[in-house]
Amino acid sequence: MRMIDIIEQKREGCKLSQKEIDFVIQGYVKGEIPDYQISAWLMAIYFQGMDDEESGYLTKAMLESGDTIDLSAIEGIKVDKHSTGGVGDKTTLILGPLVASMGAKLAKLSGRGLGHTGGTLDKLESIEGCSINLTEKQFIDQVNRINIAVSGQTGEIVPADKLLYALRDVTGTVPSIPLISSSIMSKKLASGADVICLDVKIGDGAFMKTIEEARKLSRLMVSIGKAFDKKVIAFLTGMEQPLGYAIGNRLEVKEAIETLAGDGPKDLEDLCVEIAAHMVYNAKLQPSLKEARQIALENIHNGKALAKFYEFIHAQGGKIGALDTFVRTEHVIPYQAKKPGYVQSIKAYNIGLVSMHLGGGRETKEDTIDPMVGVLLKKKIGDKVAIGDVLCEVYANNPVGEEIIKLLDEAFAIGDSPIETLPIIQEIIA
Ligand code: URA
Repeated sequence: MRMIDIIEQKREGCKLSQKEIDFVIQGYVKGEIPDYQISAWLMAIYFQGMDDEESGYLTKAMLESGDTIDLSAIEGIKVDKHSTGGVGDKTTLILGPLVASMGAKLAKLSGRGLGHTGGTLDKLESIEGCSINLTEKQFIDQVNRINIAVSGQTGEIVPADKLLYALRDVTGTVPSIPLISSSIMSKKLASGADVICLDVKIGDGAFMKTIEEARKLSRLMVSIGKAFDKKVIAFLTGMEQPLGYAIGNRLEVKEAIETLAGDGPKDLEDLCVEIAAHMVYNAKLQPSLKEARQIALENIHNGKALAKFYEFIHAQGGKIGALDTFVRTEHVIPYQAKKPGYVQSIKAYNIGLVSMHLGGGRETKEDTIDPMVGVLLKKKIGDKVAIGDVLCEVYANNPVGEEIIKLLDEAFAIGDSPIETLPIIQEIIA
């Protein structure tokens, strides 16, 4: 088999066989196929696409490139979730303890944030003492003991994805539905859960800009899941503004705690309750979605979900003191409305970039993070504002430069007419 023939076949829109896809992935991981040929192949996939079968083969080849986590030592049905990446997305910090408080077993490997999106590991590491480097044994024991553990990757999970993602990032081939699907699904399948909930973000701050694209991606991931005998449920959710009000690591942990205490933003609570209900129902812990939803809401309002959060954080070595001093920065700068009206949009992408420029996110993988900084929205889409009303507060440890103000100026659109807001979950595909 020759790589040049496989590139040409894909360039002409032909379907690749399982053997050909295995040849490419194995050859690349072994260092036998150079980056320039893989780049050309990725670009051919970007333009010509792959059908469901090819995408399944690619997922399998990637999955088999490294280790898989064996969760069989955990009793019961294991649940997991993944978000395609959003701004202000602290869902795991809420959903995890919530489903654990309802009896589900969540064994989750998480990642770090890059660019305008944050990662769960960075949020956990912003908590004093919180370890995200669990060994496989610690990870499994903790899930058996308290139903939840979140860790950075143990072992070498899907090395093919690390190599391919780095190359996609610099060759303009990230936003391809078969490539995103195989990247996400290979990692989720390697992590060993039985029920996988995918939060597919749509909008300005997300990979998928329209609901049609998000549907295609979701259908493909659900179909790959079926081929591997896993229950996959995709939630298509809005990212036309940040999720909740807080963006930045400690700010988001604080908002997660408030949400678990029944005092969080509605969009965030709605999203977590719905995903939790599907997880717990599919884990066969509740007889219907309706009952699962009801228990999820009860546990948010009776303190059980919050108690589980603290148990989880303590189990991983974390300490959280008084919440009112949990976020401390040198400056808290109000950003005010320059005209009256109704907030029409808040570009999630810009707000994510502001948080990154403040030091709350990474421009490159090597950057270190300031856990305290970020943006706290004071208004969301649909809110009425007068001139001078605070739209958001910027938590900063350095003077806030013009670049940040410009991003905020472009982020908020204020118009004369009231505007209806869409529900956070726009569609569910299973
Ligand atoms: N998230 C992933 O893990 N992979 C992609 O390709 C895109 C988003």
